[in-house]
Amino acid sequence: MERKQFLQNLGAGAAFALVFPCLNGCSKDGAVGGLPVPTGIDFTVDLDSQEGAPLQNNGGFILKQFVVVAKNLEGQYVAASQVCSHQQTEEVRFVENDGGIYYCSAHGARFDQTGKPLNSITSNPLKIFQTELTGNLLRVFE
Ligand code: FES
Repeated sequence: MERKQFLQNLGAGAAFALVFPCLNGCSKDGAVGGLPVPTGIDFTVDLDSQEGAPLQNNGGFILKQFVVVAKNLEGQYVAASQVCSHQQTEEVRFVENDGGIYYCSAHGARFDQTGKPLNSITSNPLKIFQTELTGNLLRVFE
């Protein structure tokens, strides 16, 4: 069986996992640049679970699938790429400064909640994701 046929038999998902095992980064210290901005995002977070606990409080955030999911200071759920639009490190976090912004500790880029750059570190907007709350399930998607 040839490699192509083997991969076809596995199915697209399994083939992808075999061919690109480190696509989301295999760094030990989590500080390697050049990571791809997350695409195809569509996941849910149970706000009653341990994973979702930080999202109970305004200003809290979690990291999942290279997405920063936050509850902003007004109590709304927002989400953005954890991979920075400057040099693609995974250092973007939600911080409570300036009414709640995204901040990348690698070089200090700051972005508002629409992804608009707030300083001169980069002019590239940060990718933003949609959120939808149904009961205690928060969906994050493109
Ligand atoms: S990689 Fe985020 S500020 Fe440079």
